[in-house]
Amino acid sequence: MKTQRGLLLVLLLCCAGAQPAETPPGASALPVALPRRALRWINPDETGGLAAHGTYTNALGVLGVVNASGAADATGHPFFASLGSNGRACVSCHQPQDGMSLSLDSIHRQWQVTQGQDPIFAAVDGADCPHLPQEQAASHSLLLNRGLFRVFLPWPPRDAKGQAIAPEFTLEVLRDPTGCNTHAQFGLAAPDPKVSVYRRPRPAANLKYAIRQPFNLMADARAASLSAQAADAAATHLERREPLTAAQLAAIVDFERQVYVAQVIDRKAGRLVEPGAPAALGPAALVDGAAGLAADSRHPVFGGPDDWATTPDTPARAAIVRGQQLFAARRFRHAGASESCASCHDMRLTGLNTRTGWINAGTTTQDAIAELPLFRLTCKASRRVVLTQDPGRALISGQCRDIGAIVLQPLRGLASRPPYFASGSAATLREVIDLHAARYNGHYSEQEKADLASFLGVL
Ligand code: HEC
Ligand code: HEC
Repeated sequence: MKTQRGLLLVLLLCCAGAQPAETPPGASALPVALPRRALRWINPDETGGLAAHGTYTNALGVLGVVNASGAADATGHPFFASLGSNGRACVSCHQPQDGMSLSLDSIHRQWQVTQGQDPIFAAVDGADCPHLPQEQAASHSLLLNRGLFRVFLPWPPRDAKGQAIAPEFTLEVLRDPTGCNTHAQFGLAAPDPKVSVYRRPRPAANLKYAIRQPFNLMADARAASLSAQAADAAATHLERREPLTAAQLAAIVDFERQVYVAQVIDRKAGRLVEPGAPAALGPAALVDGAAGLAADSRHPVFGGPDDWATTPDTPARAAIVRGQQLFAARRFRHAGASESCASCHDMRLTGLNTRTGWINAGTTTQDAIAELPLFRLTCKASRRVVLTQDPGRALISGQCRDIGAIVLQPLRGLASRPPYFASGSAATLREVIDLHAARYNGHYSEQEKADLASFLGVL
């Protein structure tokens, strides 16, 4: 794939870090001037620095990206270098401007600017299936319409030693719109059988929280450590043929462990990090926070000393406080229990899960997306039948109880990386709430849904 020289010159990293100027206390009134250099797509092998405090505009405001170890040099750094055979680097799909994930807007822009030549569209997983004619947009429809990459996993699953394990269920392909699961070379009947599901990139940031309980890493928790994850990403996404060196792995993991993202300005609520603002907001709270702590009545997930709660000074801030309270405390009946958003999203500061990691929230078992494959899983013992678009954790464990269970994503930097859910089925935060509420019988009023969305948008 050819490098876009012109773009590279224009978008050099030189200007990262136009941090909004300090405001005197009490001067948070709107409008807040948004930084001018809004977008910075980073190409593989770019040279230059990444500021210790970077800011990037998005639809809801401004995202802050903190390198806790100080300004980073991308030049030759293994996270930023194309280390494989398809021209991609880790940064290709984990862009600072997109909260170290990849937004659908960025994917569209790269398709247009490079006429489909950006290495993110590589056949291996940036196409619906590698056998399709690669120059056609239609062959990349899941990436272009939903932000999804193909994730291909061995079937039956393998244990840690690489031995096949006998799954508790049979797996049949009911619908195969991409042709990949039934393809002679890439599918389930291939000599080296693979099952393909389609998933959003997850943010390679705030990882202290995900690895505190490693079952919060990847949609199916298949990576036991960041270094195992990076080794796998190099072999699959980068199509690198030889293993990464120990030094490359260490540099990647060191970089990932110190990068934090969170929204710092909201278009409606103004500055999110200033005296009197909720202590959990902004990336510095994540740098300083302790990982793995569960919320309780005294320590809500995104709580802390919070002046807005008693004296929100604008309607937008009042809406955010109401949203936070709904998230923490509004209960609904789910699976026979009384739950809140925070029952599942219970880890302080991120809303990851401290107990089980993966949960079936019905997001993959609704057969909602016609362009995705549909599988029928039949549990051998109970004869229970489940239709799912992504069996999730069950593709790794082979266990019936894991069917459709997906690892929660950290609820930070959400504004920078729509669409949401592993399958990209929610285009907006409002759609996340609608889909979740339908499943949990949430009975939120329009106002409450809007408040919840305002709250999620400032995280
Ligand atoms: C082609 C796009 C692409 C490239 C290139 C890529 N990734 Fe990813 N990354 C993904 C996708 C998709 C997922 C989610 C996969 C899943 O959940 O099954 C992911 C997940 C991750 C996660 C898990 C985050 C979490 O909280 O669960 C980390 C860490 C990560 N990638 C790091 C890397 C590293 C390191 C590299 C380079 C060696 C890399 N990625 C290259 C697409 C990519
Ligand atoms: C029964 C457990 C459960 C409850 C209750 C729950 N969630 Fe979730 N939530 C999940 C799971 C599991 C996922 C990941 C699903 C997926 O990616 O397919 C998720 C995903 C999300 C996401 C998308 C994150 C992303 O990066 O894509 C948001 C936002 C979210 N939940 C907010 C909420 C809110 C707000 C509530 C309360 C109205 C709530 N959740 C209640 C389990 C739950």
